[in-house]
Amino acid sequence: MIILGIESSCDETAAALVRDGREILSSVIASQIDIHREWGGVVPEIASREHLEKIEPVVNEALERAGTRLSDIDAIAVTQGPGLIGSLLVGVCYAKALAYGLDIPIVGVNHIEGHVYSIVFENPPVEYPALALIVSGGHTNIFYIPEEGKYKVVSRTRDDAAGEAFDKVAKMLGLGYPGGPVIERLAKGVNAGKVHFPQAKISDGRPDLSFSGLKTAVSRYLRENEINIIENEPSPEVRDIAAGFQSAVIKALVGTLEKLAKDLLPRTLIVAGGVACNLALKEAAEAAAERLGIPVYFPSKHLSTDNAAMIAAAGFVALKRGECAGPEMTADITLRLQNLENEDEALRKKGVHYRL
Ligand code: KG4
Ligand code: ZN
Repeated sequence: MIILGIESSCDETAAALVRDGREILSSVIASQIDIHREWGGVVPEIASREHLEKIEPVVNEALERAGTRLSDIDAIAVTQGPGLIGSLLVGVCYAKALAYGLDIPIVGVNHIEGHVYSIVFENPPVEYPALALIVSGGHTNIFYIPEEGKYKVVSRTRDDAAGEAFDKVAKMLGLGYPGGPVIERLAKGVNAGKVHFPQAKISDGRPDLSFSGLKTAVSRYLRENEINIIENEPSPEVRDIAAGFQSAVIKALVGTLEKLAKDLLPRTLIVAGGVACNLALKEAAEAAAERLGIPVYFPSKHLSTDNAAMIAAAGFVALKRGECAGPEMTADITLRLQNLENEDEALRKKGVHYRL
């Protein structure tokens, strides 16, 4: 079964052809990073206009690289949400029209579930139960997955996503956008113990995460130590701060993942999403997995950030389950992955605020 995956939830227009949910025939990503860089972040209006321009050439290039024709496609999987509404709509409308024209099934995929499936191409099959840390620019959650397709959120960020914290701190340090890769590069080989940032304490003791206090701590450190920031010219002090910040984020993420793994006894760990590109995070998660005696699976760099191969892989599983969307399917920015023991209402009643 050849599936065309389409992804346009944020600032990457992507298309991929995937056979049987596991074999990538082609994967094309048109990133808009250079366009948004001058604004210091993604501008939604610009993003949707760019998707409109790119969607057709990107799909055509994916077909060409795979050596396939439209008539070879058996089904389409498209990111339905969450994401930016204008961006999502471009992919969803294009995919629906194409599926209608070709008279083939289409399935809407949750972008976060796509990230979970980004690991299927380069790793052994996942053994369940699994525990998945999904860390990107928009999301930071840990999901308990007792069996394929069942998700319970066991940790969530109460404020910023980890990638967002990387981006904001990079901005404070005059390092440009996106922040993750540049902070990782600067922190490499630097002693992370020189500048120490404390871990956030969640007052109700839940295994949740918080990064906004860390952002404030970096800002306070810059002020109190009168650190001079020169745009794109990081001083040794800036490198020490970048290393201390990165180490604090990784400690929080991996510490929480390991603690939950001790309680929930998963047979596989998954770490995916844009921040999973970070090699220091990878090393820390691998060390934790070794302590736990279970494997941890990561996607390679191309599959860590937004791509359409992961959407096709998740779509393949959904289609196998018998899911298929009708013409009424539309972009849904409120789409949530959790489908087990949802605690959202109970938490809201307790006054717990968090990012979905
Ligand atoms: O998954 P993704 O491409 O988009 C979202 O769905 O959000 O993730 C983008 C995020 C950005 O915040 C970026 O700074 C972060 O991933 N990122 C990294 C690294 N590469 C990308 N964060 C830390 N270290 C990296 N090497
Ligand atoms: Zn993403």
